[in-house]
Amino acid sequence: MPLLEGKKALIFGVANHRSIAWAIAQALAGEGARLVLTYQDRMEKYVRDLAEKIPGTEVIPCDVQDDGQLDAAFTRTGEIFSGELDSLIHCVAFAPASELENPFLETTRSGFHTALDISTYSLIAMARRAKPLMQAKGGSILALTYMASEHVMPKYNVMAVAKAGLECSVRYLAYELGEHNIRVNAISAGPLNTLAARGISWPHVVSRVSLASVNSQLISHPCVAILSRAKSGILPSSSAAISHVPSRVKSCLLMPGITSWEHESPHHPAHPRTS
Ligand SMILES: NC(=O)c1ccc[n+]([C@@H]2O[C@H](COP(=O)([O-])OP(=O)(O)OC[C@H]3O[C@@H](n4cnc5c(N)ncnc54)[C@H](O)[C@@H]3O)[C@@H](O)[C@H]2O)c1
Repeated sequence: MPLLEGKKALIFGVANHRSIAWAIAQALAGEGARLVLTYQDRMEKYVRDLAEKIPGTEVIPCDVQDDGQLDAAFTRTGEIFSGELDSLIHCVAFAPASELENPFLETTRSGFHTALDISTYSLIAMARRAKPLMQAKGGSILALTYMASEHVMPKYNVMAVAKAGLECSVRYLAYELGEHNIRVNAISAGPLNTLAARGISWPHVVSRVSLASVNSQLISHPCVAILSRAKSGILPSSSAAISHVPSRVKSCLLMPGITSWEHESPHHPAHPRTS
């Protein structure tokens, strides 16, 4: 029997066919889940076209910076799914391009605010609205993060702070929602060639791969396993875990043995800290 037969999932973050959220959507549908996809206004056409590939999938607009749109998206999801939600997937991130080009030291107040509002606070805002829909039967919330939260990855800059905040939010949400039988986890993916990733120069990455060229199941299958709450020897059957999933099996595309840089500037060569 499919792992998610009849489960109801709400997915934020599909932009186009390259999106990690789209790979997750296909995997969840393949396991029998019913889907609602949200879209940012400028992505409507792409998301509608993709949604048509999965019969029964509904699409609704939602800019996560707008509380009114978040309220409307969850109200509409409740109507579509008869007041119930099993899975919420958060694949949303953004930072202004200048914040990813300039030195971290030059991070602006407004750039910091935008990056953390969209990429971090949105998870809390979504979880609060998902709770009433998950209250009766419990549920799972899953966010996408990146290992720059733990190690310095030059140019990831304020997004690294946003991801560290996201991971911390996962733990606090898991602590509070656990008693309601709602699990909260994050998958830390390797570098992939998506729309969001194109804004980053990724000097620390040897090569970036597209989801089409890797086995996208490397990312989507762990998501299915976590959302299905199946017991697994590798993945958490609990809450608040951050699971690292490289985009290739053998390497996460960092230079071998190097886990972080102590500093990087034109005047001081980077000093890799080896594992
Ligand atoms: N691509 C990678 O290498 C990589 C690695 C690790 C983690 N991630 C994370 O995976 C998630 C999905 O990103 P992706 O790489 O698939 O890129 P993507 O560009 O396909 O997805 C990012 C999504 O964020 C949405 N978004 C941005 N601002 C928004 C707003 N104000 N309101 C609503 N939606 C908004 C975009 O519409 C888009 O759908 C992100 O959290 C990203 O940080 C990506």
